[in-house]
Amino acid sequence: MKKPIIIANWKMNLSLASSISLAKDFVDNLIDIKDKDVVICPSTMALVKVEEIISNSDIKLGAQDVFWQESGAYTGESSPKVLSEIGCEYVIIGHSERREYLQETNTMINKKIDACLDNNLIPILCIGETKDQRHEGLTDNILYRQLKNALDNIHLVANEKIVIAYEPVWAIGSGEVVEAEEAERVFALIQQILIDLYPLTIVKNNVRMIYGGSVNSTNISSFSDLELLSGFLVGGASLKTETFKEIVQAL
Ligand code: PGA
Repeated sequence: MKKPIIIANWKMNLSLASSISLAKDFVDNLIDIKDKDVVICPSTMALVKVEEIISNSDIKLGAQDVFWQESGAYTGESSPKVLSEIGCEYVIIGHSERREYLQETNTMINKKIDACLDNNLIPILCIGETKDQRHEGLTDNILYRQLKNALDNIHLVANEKIVIAYEPVWAIGSGEVVEAEEAERVFALIQQILIDLYPLTIVKNNVRMIYGGSVNSTNISSFSDLELLSGFLVGGASLKTETFKEIVQAL
């Protein structure tokens, strides 16, 4: 397995006070994690405070979204340059909740990935099919299109890294997880698409594939044998230190 990465996506679930207190709890409890990347993605408003808390720990900071320009008249948006300045190392891009509620398109996602790479931020690109698309046999087409469009004209070079999170939309927050065998099949498909786009060394060294969607400390063991899996994007189960710690320790 490549260096595992476990990402806590707190979404918009916590107040500022709760974000601060959970971040403190993570720092106190998530120790001996040098051999993995453990990333907290609080809401934008909590980034600066959470960074202050985790700055002397091995926990890393991620944002939940970014805009594709560094500065200018873009009311309400978050600059990739400023995220980097704050201390973010990662940014979640194209989460299905943003695709659904904010009409985020593959073209916007593509520009955001580009902006991240220009600002030393590692994009965590989320892709995944809805239940209807799966039932209609469209899973592979959807993933292919999401990936190809998101990575259009993105020339990953030696020091640029990216994380691809396979998050079936129907698995997010539903308690349902994808079958391990199906996840491995999807990772093989993603890997093949990447090999067609980039040199093999880049795919091997610069890209990690992770799974997200109702991951918890109980079902995580079903993924333990997946060769292509490098970690998890965790929503609900990252809101409690105990359950998140169990996931971190399992990898
Ligand atoms: P979940 O969320 O773990 O609560 O399903 C995962 C995600 O949306 O990233």
